[in-house]
Amino acid sequence: NAVGLFGSAVHEGQTKTGTELAPRALREGGLISALYNLGWEINDMGDIQGKNYRIHNHKSQYFRNSQQVGIINGEINKRSFEIAKQNKFMLNIGGDHGVASGSIHGLLQHYGDELRVVWVDAHADCNYELGPNRNYHGMPLAHLYGSIHEPIKGFEWLKHRLDPKNITYIAIRDIDPMEREFIREQKIVYYGMDEIIELGIGQVMNRILKQFEGKPIHVSFDVDSIDPEFAHGTGTLVDGGISYREAHYLLRKLASSRQLVGMDLVEINPQLEKTPEFREEFFGDFQQIGRIQGTQTVALGIELIASALGRTLVL
Ligand code: ARG
Ligand code: MN
Ligand code: MN
Ligand code: MN
Repeated sequence: NAVGLFGSAVHEGQTKTGTELAPRALREGGLISALYNLGWEINDMGDIQGKNYRIHNHKSQYFRNSQQVGIINGEINKRSFEIAKQNKFMLNIGGDHGVASGSIHGLLQHYGDELRVVWVDAHADCNYELGPNRNYHGMPLAHLYGSIHEPIKGFEWLKHRLDPKNITYIAIRDIDPMEREFIREQKIVYYGMDEIIELGIGQVMNRILKQFEGKPIHVSFDVDSIDPEFAHGTGTLVDGGISYREAHYLLRKLASSRQLVGMDLVEINPQLEKTPEFREEFFGDFQQIGRIQGTQTVALGIELIASALGRTLVL
């Protein structure tokens, strides 16, 4: 049981700085020992620093920092593919959500059409409108679905497509009109807040696991899926999200399916937490996963990864 992990220290897919600090914050908070104590062999490939790929005086007509984001995602794609090829669990720590077109592309390269994606987010991230003020973190799925036809410099590596049939959304509740239309047209399976309330998260997960039975699953987890009450340190807060309990439950459920092959954990912005509280936590001696520290959302991020990697609450 091995996990290949890397940080994507990237904020260039949107306008606020701070998401690039998350990989370091999670490491300092105890991520590695938490995974180690869950029994994983760890291949830590270090962090991809977005700032090292800066292109000066570059104004893009497609979206903010398009060439830089393309090159960064090309690096992410390579690492993700490398990890998948070795049959390890691919863990990508963002960064803004724009990094997910790279990581998912790497998995598509290895798993092909077998790959299934669970996208947990307040947003649908498949807006394909281009423009100089667009932010790539709202567009990675548009890119993977093939909705963006323009050849964008930096993205020459992007060739695999994600069939909209092979994804399901959880917790989406802030959706652009064009995204709504696309989701309807393509009949994309989604569980918004109404569906989660009506069915309950248990039934939602049963349906998803039935739909994706036997297939390798990647979860792309944007922390803004969670209610701001539990995850305040992120750039695009949307009220009325899933709870702490629902978030952990859904990840435990995916983990226990034994089909989970990858995870992105994105949009944690430690700079946006106004009262950085120090938090230490022990998980009890029945399953010691070590010591977690950090701001609310950083500590939560470590715990979410632990849930996706097999931390259980049952004896
Ligand atoms: N739909 C909006 C856009 O396209 C917001 C996307 C926010 N995405 C996110 N990963 N937080 O700009
Ligand atoms: Mn997102
Ligand atoms: Mn989001
Ligand atoms: Mn945006």
